[in-house]
Amino acid sequence: MSQYSEEIERRRTFAIISHPDAGKTTLTEKLLLFGGAIHVAGAVKSNKIKKTATSDWMEIEKQRGISVATSVMAFDYSDHKINILDTPGHQDFAEDTFRTLTAVDSVIIVIDIAKGVEAQTRKLMEVCRMRKTPVIVFVNKMDRDGKDPFDLLDEIEEELQIKVRPLSWPIDMGQRFRGVYNIFEQKLNLYTPSKQYVTENVEFKDITSPDLETYIDPTQAAKLREDIELIEGVYPEFDVNTYLDGDIAPVFFGSALNNFGVKELLDCFIRIAPSPRPIQAVERVVDPNEDNFTGFIFKIHANMDPNHRSCIAFVKICSGRFERNANYKHVRFGKMMRFSSPTAFMAQKKEVVDEAFAGDIIGLPDTGNFKIGDTLTSGEELHFKGLPSFSPEMFKYIENADPMKAKQLNKGIEQLMDEGVAQLFTNQFNGRKIIGTVGQLQFEVIQYRLLHEYAAQCKWEPISLYKACWIESDNKQALENFKKRKAQYMALDKEGRDVYLADSSYVLMMAQQDFPDIKFHFTSEF
Ligand code: G4P
Repeated sequence: MSQYSEEIERRRTFAIISHPDAGKTTLTEKLLLFGGAIHVAGAVKSNKIKKTATSDWMEIEKQRGISVATSVMAFDYSDHKINILDTPGHQDFAEDTFRTLTAVDSVIIVIDIAKGVEAQTRKLMEVCRMRKTPVIVFVNKMDRDGKDPFDLLDEIEEELQIKVRPLSWPIDMGQRFRGVYNIFEQKLNLYTPSKQYVTENVEFKDITSPDLETYIDPTQAAKLREDIELIEGVYPEFDVNTYLDGDIAPVFFGSALNNFGVKELLDCFIRIAPSPRPIQAVERVVDPNEDNFTGFIFKIHANMDPNHRSCIAFVKICSGRFERNANYKHVRFGKMMRFSSPTAFMAQKKEVVDEAFAGDIIGLPDTGNFKIGDTLTSGEELHFKGLPSFSPEMFKYIENADPMKAKQLNKGIEQLMDEGVAQLFTNQFNGRKIIGTVGQLQFEVIQYRLLHEYAAQCKWEPISLYKACWIESDNKQALENFKKRKAQYMALDKEGRDVYLADSSYVLMMAQQDFPDIKFHFTSEF
């Protein structure tokens, strides 16, 4: 316990994740409405990058710019301080989302009742599983027709590989949607389609009571009783600890657009979702309640104004209290630094703050001092572990297109990689630099930013690669042998780790067969 424990205990820092269009922006907005952080619907802009804009980089950036303002949305609700971390909707920025997940204590996944589990959700859930992040599922758009809820739950269990436990249950759907039975609070929430205000709740402990028929029609009442009986029979009793361990995901149903089921979600969320949790650093486990400040950079957002090459480094505070103008150690540099204008993000405003506590996110104006994963402390030599890099999906050689600007190009590449825009591999055979990304957009981002921020010109040359594999072996000789045999395909990543660049799945499979002593990893930490 520390003098700050009370502050820390009341914090809930989480991200809402979904496949684009499932309703993340709408849900975020309704949560902000409850928190009084905004007053009208429509105030939160989606940071979704419209598909039509993919060829127009400036337009994309304009849209993406919105996401700086809404990167973190904080508000107070019922004695709790809620920090929602926004994640980019476009899949080409999936790495951004992965990193944001390193800074949250829990996650709400939004699933569209009609579409079920979609590709992006699956990928993001993998990261949550890896980190054992507690997850709540919100099944959205119940005002529309969709899948049978039981089938959807099976699909979630199978596709997301997590056990589920419904804590609310829908009464019909689409045109006939009548509301949900809140199993967690034993209340009947009746649905009135309305975009602005909360609907009526009726305490209803015993759904076998014939009173149910005074609220909903007899066929719906019979179906609800049957469903609830089945749920109680099939799913285990809800146990908060299994949720906190990341083993079970409670499920809520509702309609974000109609503000239905959202308050129930929020009320349950503040009760069961974790306050800041201990974090494993390389040296030791850091408890949020320690007096001394520690934190790490999980995201760097560049200022798109070409005249100012400044960034905002986003810090997740892991323990203690951060104070404006205090001296903190930048562990990688081994030097003390002072920050005179740290910003916090209240609702949609960014403002300078004097203090912040474990669980909070602050933004530090930066001119190139930080890279993703950097640790700040009150003086201790400590290193938080970041999220491992995943193998990119696309690869291109990057070449200098202006021989006079080689230095600028190298500096630009290095800084953009520190920001986490993409991954750099240097081929050990020919010395050429290869950039790996998850989507085409990132190549455009890099080219544009190199030109506008570093006055460097690059050109891309094709290279056909399938995956980057980080390799290791207990057998030194076997490792050397492999590296010699595959010399043309060996590269070093930015941290100097050995990476094998496989040009096809077949070649990779053969390599795995032919070199049983070598372990091939698709993420950079293992
Ligand atoms: P995203 O951030 O996950 O990408 O999704 P977003 O909230 O932008 O929602 C995607 C679309 O789904 C929006 O419609 C939104 O109005 C709609 N939507 C969200 N929740 C519900 C719901 O509970 N029921 C129904 N029927 N629709 C819902 P759009 O037409 O794409 O955008 P807009 O013009 O309404 O903003």
